[in-house]
Amino acid sequence: MKFFIDTANLDQIREAQDLGILDGVTTNPSLMAKEGISGAEAIKNHYKTICEIVDGDISAEVLSTTYEEMIKEGEELAAIHPNIVVKIPMIKDGIKALKYFTDKGIKTNCTLIFSAGQALLAAKAGATYVSPFLGRLDDVSTDGLALIEEIRIIFDNYDYKTEILAASIRHSMHIINCAKIGADVVTTPLAPILSLLKHPLTDNGLAQFIADSKKMM
Ligand code: E4P
Repeated sequence: MKFFIDTANLDQIREAQDLGILDGVTTNPSLMAKEGISGAEAIKNHYKTICEIVDGDISAEVLSTTYEEMIKEGEELAAIHPNIVVKIPMIKDGIKALKYFTDKGIKTNCTLIFSAGQALLAAKAGATYVSPFLGRLDDVSTDGLALIEEIRIIFDNYDYKTEILAASIRHSMHIINCAKIGADVVTTPLAPILSLLKHPLTDNGLAQFIADSKKMM
């Protein structure tokens, strides 16, 4: 399973990259705004910097919602760096835009997926990734993992090459469960990745080994 980090924060991206387990980055307009990025040039430079830190797929989301504007904006984003993946919202014009970029050999990530039907349409349009939002479904008392399971079955039935990018990850159990179900990728904030490291028995065991190693010296 691939690990992407879901942030536009450069320090957190560097920290995850330093771990040596990072395969890519996803951003969205909210995450970019949180970092105070505004204006076309600043947006472009920020994506460029992320691409220089991480050698993997970097999702950059279009801000427009009409077909023509998404094509123009997506082409500009794709021109920033070969690793840019154009992130397109799951709307009617978005499906058309996915098909356009697929035909041009530009990678895409279809975002805001909340149903199996949406994922199926995006796969038909040739999306490189679909992003089901696990945590946001859980937030409204709907089983987010069940959606990922459904999409896995559908994609396997027809051998769709579209990868399931589990998004809106809130904690480490989301990551473990996505791995059990067979999501191709998880995109997660840094904290759930770091909490995968933690186990009290590891800490106790290491403390004991360190204490005993002193007796050997
Ligand atoms: C996916 O690409 C989105 O950026 C993200 O996972 C949304 O997560 P949130 O529900 O925590 O905002």
